[in-house]
Parts: sequence; C-alpha cells; structure tokens
Amino acid sequence: MKFFADTSDIEDIKKLNEAGMLDGVTTNPSIIAKSGRDFIPLIEEICDIVDGPVSAEVASTDYETMSKEGAKLAAIADNVAVKVPLTPAGLRVCKELSDKGTMVNVTLCFSPGQALLAAKAGAAFISPFVGRLDDICQDGLQLISDVLRIYENYEYFDTQVLVASVRNPLHIIDSAKMGAHVVTCPPKVIHQLYNHPLTDKGLAGFVEDWKKTGQSIL
Ligand code: E4P
Repeated sequence: MKFFADTSDIEDIKKLNEAGMLDGVTTNPSIIAKSGRDFIPLIEEICDIVDGPVSAEVASTDYETMSKEGAKLAAIADNVAVKVPLTPAGLRVCKELSDKGTMVNVTLCFSPGQALLAAKAGAAFISPFVGRLDDICQDGLQLISDVLRIYENYEYFDTQVLVASVRNPLHIIDSAKMGAHVVTCPPKVIHQLYNHPLTDKGLAGFVEDWKKTGQSIL
C-alpha cells in the first residue's frame, strides 16, 4: 500500500520522506489556505522533495477555467497529479488531461457510481472520502470496499483507489486489508502506526539487559 501525506507542511513531508514512508503528497484548497503560502511555489517545493505524485487541486468549478488551471498545474513538474472535483466539468477536464498523459486525482467521491465515472474518465486516482462519510453516520470503509469490487471487474480500468479523509489508523489498516492501492492521511496518523505499548516495554527491557552484558557492538 502506498502512503501519501495529506499536508503541505514541508517539515512533516521531509521527515516522512527521510523515514522512507512517503510515496506521495496530497493537498487541497483548505490545506493550502492553512499553510499561508503561495500555491504554485509551494507545490514546486514539494515536488522537488518527493519523487511520487503530488496532488494540486484546481480552484474553479467551470470547465473552461478549470481546464486552463489544470494545464498550468500539470506544467509545474512531471510528478504533479492534477486534482479535480467529481463534477461533470471536473471529469471532462480529467479525460482531457489523462489523454495527454497527465495524472489526475478525482476528489470528493462519496459513492460507487461516482467512482465508476472517474475510472471511465481515465483518472489515475479516485479519492473516496472515508472520514467525511463516517461523520454523517455512513460507512466510509464500505465505500472503499464497493469501489475496489467494481474496479476489479474491469481489467482495463487503471484507476487506483486513494483512500482520503482518513482520521485514524484503523482507516488505514482496514483499507489495506481490502487491498486499497493508496492511503492519504495527516502525518500524525501515519506516526500512530508505529506505536504499541508492548514495543516500548520490550525495548526498555532489552536496553536494560544489554547494559548488564557490559558489551558494545561498535
Ligand atoms: C485529500 O485528498 C482530501 O482532500 C483530504 O483527505 C480530505 O480530508 P478531510 O476530510 O479531513 O478534510
């Protein structure tokens, strides 16, 4: 399973990259607004750090403007994945960019039918939002299962399921059990995967016992 960081925080991105746990980055207009940085130079900086796909989202909603924005974002770097909303205009831009060889991430997916449309539009990634469905008492992980099942029936669909709106480690683990291709999450959720009290307790015991040997490996 690939791990994308759902952030534009450069320090967090660098840390995960150095840890060897980073396969890509996703951003959205809310993440960019929170950063307080200029969008294009920020995406350029992230693309320089990360080898994998970096999602940069269009800001407009009409086809003409979105198409121009998509072309501009695609030109930033080879590893930019242009992010478009799951609307008729967004999917038209998705098809257009995908046909030219640009990776497209279709965002704001909340139903299996929407995911089917994105695959037909040639999306490199579909982003079903698990946490936001859970927030309204719908089963976000069931959507992941449904989309994977539909895509498996059609070998000619190349679209990867990118689990988005992740709130906790169980979202990652359950999605991995289902075989989802990618998960994007806040760095803190990836870091939570490292933790287990028995690991901490076991390590403390090994450190103490090693001291008793009086030896040094180096
Ligand atoms: C990523 O591509 C999505 O924009 C993001 O995961 C949404 O997360 P949120 O629902 O926590 O805002």
